[in-house]
Amino acid sequence: MWLRLRRVWPLFRASGVGADPGAAMSKRKAPQESPNAGITDFLSELANYERNVSRAVHKYNAYRKAASVISKYPSKIKSGAEARKLEGVGAKIAEKIDEFLSTGKLRKLEKIRQDDTSSSINFLTRVSGIGPSAARKLVDEGIKTLEDLRKNEHKLNHHQRIGLKYFDDFEKRIPREEMLQMQEIALEEVKKLDSEYIATVCGSFRRGAESSGDMDILLTHPSFTSESTKQPKLLHQVVEQLEKIHFVTDTLSKGDTKFMGVCQLPNKEDGTNYPYRRIDIRLIPKDQYYCGVLYFTGSDLFNKNMRTHALEMGFTINEYTIRPLGVTGVAGEPLPVDSEKDIFDYIQWKYREPKERSE
Ligand code: TTP
Ligand code: MG
Repeated sequence: MWLRLRRVWPLFRASGVGADPGAAMSKRKAPQESPNAGITDFLSELANYERNVSRAVHKYNAYRKAASVISKYPSKIKSGAEARKLEGVGAKIAEKIDEFLSTGKLRKLEKIRQDDTSSSINFLTRVSGIGPSAARKLVDEGIKTLEDLRKNEHKLNHHQRIGLKYFDDFEKRIPREEMLQMQEIALEEVKKLDSEYIATVCGSFRRGAESSGDMDILLTHPSFTSESTKQPKLLHQVVEQLEKIHFVTDTLSKGDTKFMGVCQLPNKEDGTNYPYRRIDIRLIPKDQYYCGVLYFTGSDLFNKNMRTHALEMGFTINEYTIRPLGVTGVAGEPLPVDSEKDIFDYIQWKYREPKERSE
């Protein structure tokens, strides 16, 4: 999962709602040590609020961008003016930094945290399958806590019910060591079915993260291209195999090209079990595979920056293709792509290893 915040904020522990008030922020972002963690924390909390409660996506992006650039700043920021020199930090954010540096808090955030509706909406979006609009609807009906959700399961769809069932497990990050075991199981089963499959575990894992929020697997097969007919069996037989060995335990949704579900490693030697984890598997036509791998490796901010650079160079990139832009700004036919590097080459960008894409 992405969108979420970088760490659970000490300040936030004091407020919030639901079973685990402490984590009223977003899910599963790795802790981040930086001399400016206090600032990036409050910016991320504001971002979260704008996305989930105000539904103001531009503000959400602005706060995230500022948090991202400040998190890379090596020394302790001493004033808003100092932060303003960084790209993505404007006057309003600089003002907030000044307020935070001088008082240790932000009135705006204090208010948001005290607001019952806001904190309830924020909390409910932590359940897999409940987005900002479903959360608001539930809160409007007085449904605000896990207990409320349990009492009102009939109001939830299948995905949301599973999200509720595994709420605690889905909040936990997955240590890299477990991701490696999960990767081994999944890729081995895929190869067993058909050695021609190509599969890549993307997301934060591919970027080398010490822990991940979920497992994102991309799958293709030489026989499946955007020109050929659909081959949903290529996805379904993989899912069925993973169910057969009891690795995949639940399905959230299953289409011809995208499976969203739940998986679990086999029990440890001492008999205790691993948490249930979120897993997504996407089947992608071979000719679009590397655009997909690039996109789903992220990070999402890296993707944004790369797309911006591509536009400056006269190309448009999305999760499927890279296409040249004509003089009128109309996108042409997809360019042939056989590796991630091809995409960097088209836009004349130096290749960046996945590890160097965590912005
Ligand atoms: P996520 O799994 O949401 O993110 P992640 O793997 O980077 O982080 P986490 O450890 O929390 O799971 O999505 C995978 C990648 O897909 C993400 O790194 C970038 C890309 N992506 C976008 O660029 N935009 C989007 O809206 C989504 C959903 C994903
Ligand atoms: Mg992920």
